[in-house]
Amino acid sequence: MPHDATSDDHQTRIEDLLGRMTVEEKLGQLQQLAWAWNTGPGGGGTADVEAAARKGLLGSVLNVVGAANSNALQRIAVEESRLGIPLVFGLDVIHGFHTTFPIPLAQAAAFDPAVTRTDGEVSAAEARSNGIHWTFSPMMDVTHEPRWGRIAESTGEDPYLAARYAVAKVHGYQGGDPSDLSAPDRVAACAKHFAAYGGAEGGRDYNTVDVSEQRLRNLYLPPFEAAVEAGAATVMAAFNTISGVPAHANAHTLTGILKQDWGFDGVVVSDWTGVRELIAHGNAADEADAGRLALSAGVDMEMVSTTFADHGRSLLDSGALRQDRLDDAVARVLRLKLRLGLFERPYVDEAAAITAPSTRTRAAARAAAGRCMVLLKNEDGVLPLDAGIVRSLAVVGPFADSGDLLGTWSLPGAPEAVPVLRGLREALPDADVTHARGVPADGPDTSGLAEAVAVAAAADAVVVVVGEPPAVSGEAAVRSDLRLPGRQEELVAAVAATGTPCVVVLVGGRPLTIGAWADRVPAIVMAWHPGIEAGPAVADVLTGAVAPGGKLPVTFPRTVGQIPLYHNHERTGRPYDPATPQEKYVSKYLDIADGPQFPFGHGLSYTTFALGDPALSRERITTDELHAGATVEVAVPVRNTGARDGEEVVQLYVQDPAASIAQPVRRLRGFRRIRLAAGEERTVRFTLGAADVGFWTNDPAGVHTVEPGEIHLHTGTSSHTHARQTLLIT
Ligand code: GLC
Repeated sequence: MPHDATSDDHQTRIEDLLGRMTVEEKLGQLQQLAWAWNTGPGGGGTADVEAAARKGLLGSVLNVVGAANSNALQRIAVEESRLGIPLVFGLDVIHGFHTTFPIPLAQAAAFDPAVTRTDGEVSAAEARSNGIHWTFSPMMDVTHEPRWGRIAESTGEDPYLAARYAVAKVHGYQGGDPSDLSAPDRVAACAKHFAAYGGAEGGRDYNTVDVSEQRLRNLYLPPFEAAVEAGAATVMAAFNTISGVPAHANAHTLTGILKQDWGFDGVVVSDWTGVRELIAHGNAADEADAGRLALSAGVDMEMVSTTFADHGRSLLDSGALRQDRLDDAVARVLRLKLRLGLFERPYVDEAAAITAPSTRTRAAARAAAGRCMVLLKNEDGVLPLDAGIVRSLAVVGPFADSGDLLGTWSLPGAPEAVPVLRGLREALPDADVTHARGVPADGPDTSGLAEAVAVAAAADAVVVVVGEPPAVSGEAAVRSDLRLPGRQEELVAAVAATGTPCVVVLVGGRPLTIGAWADRVPAIVMAWHPGIEAGPAVADVLTGAVAPGGKLPVTFPRTVGQIPLYHNHERTGRPYDPATPQEKYVSKYLDIADGPQFPFGHGLSYTTFALGDPALSRERITTDELHAGATVEVAVPVRNTGARDGEEVVQLYVQDPAASIAQPVRRLRGFRRIRLAAGEERTVRFTLGAADVGFWTNDPAGVHTVEPGEIHLHTGTSSHTHARQTLLIT
């Protein structure tokens, strides 16, 4: 945790307050209740919340939106309760408040954390000006499960990428210094969901996670440790079990690792009714037991369920709950409020509330969306669309003229997305741009197919905008089949059959299985759910105004039967060898080609790049040198060998071919997105240290080791790299 210069003053004020608070007031600070959205006090369904605030028995409220509503509720707590301790207001500002940015998975595809920092900064300014102090974001759950709807909120399957994004988002929301948090354009971040939520069996939300200590620490925890190191003010517990112990009752992760090992001094908040759900998990006997388990394990604030408030007093009197644990939890909540400056400035300036996106924030969202798009395929030079050649363009598909492209967790009331059709018409003003929906986003209706085929056949080029709607993405949105919903595959096939040069723009919150038609179309762009400026951003990329440079942060499987399928997998004792595809007794499927449709890190551009072999600053290093902080530099020459300026993401992966714990065949340890003019050459440099080449063992005490032996360094423009150098550790 970065040192907070005001922390001594805060500690004095915390101790003074603790000395004056009753047990009930202390338990009240640990309670967060839900509000009824943008209503003020006196509105329906909020009487219990107002009453608790008035009695000083409430610490926080989520889902109260609007500066006036926030101030009205805050006034009750500050001016009517005995001690006047201000409330802290939380909201899920995941990828935008008024200005909706691309979904986090899309942002990860930019391989440029600056994109997510910008989202954080814009979102924090808009949210804080509307009375929100705390966002339940960034979500940093690494996952190998595209069936899981919440992959849309994640930054994909790689812990190194996810960690870089977690840090950028925390800094975007909070600023880089702890003292920034009290500024009127900053909000407290929340690293969620702690931990391993992305490992749910079958991709089914809330499902069991059984994970070894080494995989917990090597795959799932790195983003959280990075976020805590970056100063994340809060952490949210996860709904799942971790090897049989629910995350909400897991002292090993919540207290042992998070608070003791990492020194986290912020607030751990439960997720919704996660505390009470300990009963359903089969872990708690009743609500009192649930409260005892969660609070003792390290949860500090209870969201929505009220076991702490209802049973804390009796648990304390019986000795089932320790006084110092209660006081520590209260101290953490008070510290958050002090860091936010709420004691000095509990109210927000209603006249300064930001009420809509601005030209500047729309431009930022548009630029972000363009950087997030991934050119999956581009044959016959179909892309970029040349305004001089394309005199007529057909735009078809259920998402061609749709504003439903904000993605999951966009906020109610946020302006809809600009449709792709409008974006293309504005980008190609001299072209005759026609439109037909063809088929709906789901369901059996194909009555519009003939019209779509007709407009496509009559045009110089056709853009087909297909995919999944945000409604089947996000929390509790798990799909067992990842193909295009409804009859969209038929639309693609029918339009491709016209022979008109065809570009498929895919929208969605997860990898989709597109093998049924991907070979029939010359060009495919993954646009994800691109946010408020969807249409203009798609047009920017399709016309070449923006050079596509995104890469896949998740593997695209050929079929759902291959899942889990990911780049950072172990080798197995019988790895598939493409040189001997007929070999039977190896790890493969009998009924489908080996490997993914598109691998992690894949993405094309409108030009070509050549990477030279990586050069090491040294080819040998000792474990002692590494532990003392010595590093190795890896230099990779890159040249734009094409005729257009463009962007490439140079990627560095490490592989330990012989370790005491079998290591993944590729572990991302560096990425750099660079822009090169046609013909330009540059050298990209990476630095490797102990953390990059070592790994965590299965020791529950937490042991990170660097072992002697070879480390293979792979560089390339996707995880299917081949250039290799060897570093020898002695
Ligand atoms: C939800 C989500 C969590 C969110 C919280 C508050 O169930 O799991 O990510 O922050 O409840 O809305």
